[in-house]
Amino acid sequence: MSILKKIDLNNTPKHIAIIMDGNGRWAQQQGHSRLFGHNFGVESVREVLKAAQKTNVEYLTLYAFSTENWNRPQEEVDGLMDLLVRTIGNEVEELHKSNVKISTIGNILGLPESCGKELHEAHEKTKKNTGVNLILALNYSSRWELTNAAKNIAIKVESGKINADEIDEHTIISELNTSNIPDPELLIRTSGEYRVSNFLLWQIAYAEFYFTDVLWPDFKASDLYKAILDYQSRERRFGMVSEQIEKDS
Ligand code: IPE
Ligand code: IPE
Ligand code: MG
Repeated sequence: MSILKKIDLNNTPKHIAIIMDGNGRWAQQQGHSRLFGHNFGVESVREVLKAAQKTNVEYLTLYAFSTENWNRPQEEVDGLMDLLVRTIGNEVEELHKSNVKISTIGNILGLPESCGKELHEAHEKTKKNTGVNLILALNYSSRWELTNAAKNIAIKVESGKINADEIDEHTIISELNTSNIPDPELLIRTSGEYRVSNFLLWQIAYAEFYFTDVLWPDFKASDLYKAILDYQSRERRFGMVSEQIEKDS
């Protein structure tokens, strides 16, 4: 039986977030430059998206460039920005045809203008699509997002739009880049690193974590299905006890 057939389609995570890590090591292991690895990483994005389309996943958020990644060598940063522009340009038609809706989280205004333009066009072209939501986290950091949220709420309080004692979880959620996106149920990180690296800190409060040693350019459809199967074998208790969960299901 193929691994896809083992997945219970009534219990797939609606939202999967992925920290796509290991491109550099993958390339260096083969004596290539880190950028070679980033290029190959695009192939995995393509494949994982197609795989997600075969399940009931509705949102796929991919961490593609963190705010901290600006600290990499200039040559790598430039190469990554170039790759981003080229990839969006090349893929948008195909993505549109397969009904994918493209959006972003992160500080898009801080990206080179050409990137911003491609992303804007991709968003406009695909915004009415009803298939998988592909969310690219670019120039994203959770602390940046939360700091902005705090600032915006403070402005609302200062201007008398809301009272400080009215602030609740929903006030904060509505100021996040992900305000219209449900929290991810499953967070995947590749390359054997066990950390979150400033990604969706608020939103992963109750996410299931799946870590794999596979480097991102080697991560393929079957790896995504394995992660979903692993997710389906877990019991999500949300602070309750096992017996309560069994009774509800
Ligand atoms: C992830 O791969 C891609 C980005 C962060 C842009 P890395 O480039 O971090 O690869 P490693 O972790 O150095 O192997
Ligand atoms: C996290 O990977 C960011 C992305 C995948 C875009 P990094 O490789 O930048 O994270 P650290 O530096 O190992 O924590
Ligand atoms: Mg890395």
